Amino acid sequence: MEGKVAIVTGANSGMGLATAAALSDAGAKVIMLCRNEERGKEALAKLKEKEERQLELILCDLGDYDSIRGFARTVKAKYKKIDILVNNAGFISLDRQETREGLERQFGINHIGHFLLTMLLLKNMGEGSRIVNVASGAHKVGRIHFEDINLKKHYNVITAYSQSKLANVLFTRELARRVAKRGITVNCCHPGAVATNIGIDRDTGFGKTVTGLLKPFFQTPEEGARTAIFLAMDDSVKNVSGEYFYRCRIAKSSKRSKDMRLARKLFVLSKKLVMKN
Ligand SMILES: NC(=O)c1ccc[n+]([C@@H]2O[C@H](COP(=O)([O-])OP(=O)(O)OC[C@H]3O[C@@H](n4cnc5c(N)ncnc54)[C@H](OP(=O)(O)O)[C@@H]3O)[C@@H](O)[C@H]2O)c1
Repeated sequence: MEGKVAIVTGANSGMGLATAAALSDAGAKVIMLCRNEERGKEALAKLKEKEERQLELILCDLGDYDSIRGFARTVKAKYKKIDILVNNAGFISLDRQETREGLERQFGINHIGHFLLTMLLLKNMGEGSRIVNVASGAHKVGRIHFEDINLKKHYNVITAYSQSKLANVLFTRELARRVAKRGITVNCCHPGAVATNIGIDRDTGFGKTVTGLLKPFFQTPEEGARTAIFLAMDDSVKNVSGEYFYRCRIAKSSKRSKDMRLARKLFVLSKKLVMKN
């Protein structure tokens, strides 16, 4: 991985932190996309305990188009080629929240934020570049609610999270098809159940007790990140694209997640949503 440039979103916590550590240990220069300066700096300092790691922290809120555009500008001005993009950041919430542009927050961050980021960075990707989207098995109960994409009428956490994670898988399949001729691969994965900070309110700490209780039964972030790391670096998957992985193997995904008509429809809607603002 020497000489390669990798971006990991949500690199200050859980599997993003573990992925940034593994990619930099393999020799890549890792750009850590983090939304919060304090948490980002703390994670950078932790990773930098191994001095040989090459890391750079760049702040970006995936729930804010201007912030995403600013991040992409900074990265593109500095790095001609991006070899790896791990779209890992994720958000889940019991109550309905919105992004700066008024999108339901899980759809807005987990899918649209990453969609915009990826489309902006694509120009600086080419032969051999890899995109890895961290999806979830939760996509299996998901549906894309085109009639009410921001779930204003019927919000609940499962509907919202599973919609956003199904969007990750559909985006993987459609983008893989679109960039195949350029030698770029796009895959996604389910990490399994992993003890991270997901679901914990960053301001109030709500959810910490439940996560703490479940910890002994869940994988560690390092274990959970294995499939994303494998997709980002392993030689055996360098020509594989458009697939859904679990435990470093192609896995079964839902019938809906393979519907290419649906994938195209979501792609067109996503483009419209990011162009409007
Ligand atoms: N944990 C599981 O069991 C599990 C299972 C299936 C799939 N996944 C998926 O795995 C991925 C990684 O999650 P994790 O479990 O490692 O959770 P985590 O510890 O909560 O990490 C999530 C990361 O995303 C960042 N993030 C959230 N909103 C953001 C925004 N608006 N802009 C930029 N970054 C943002 C967080 O930053 P802050 O710390 O600043 O909030 C954090 O760095 C997610 O996509 C999740 O859906 C997790």
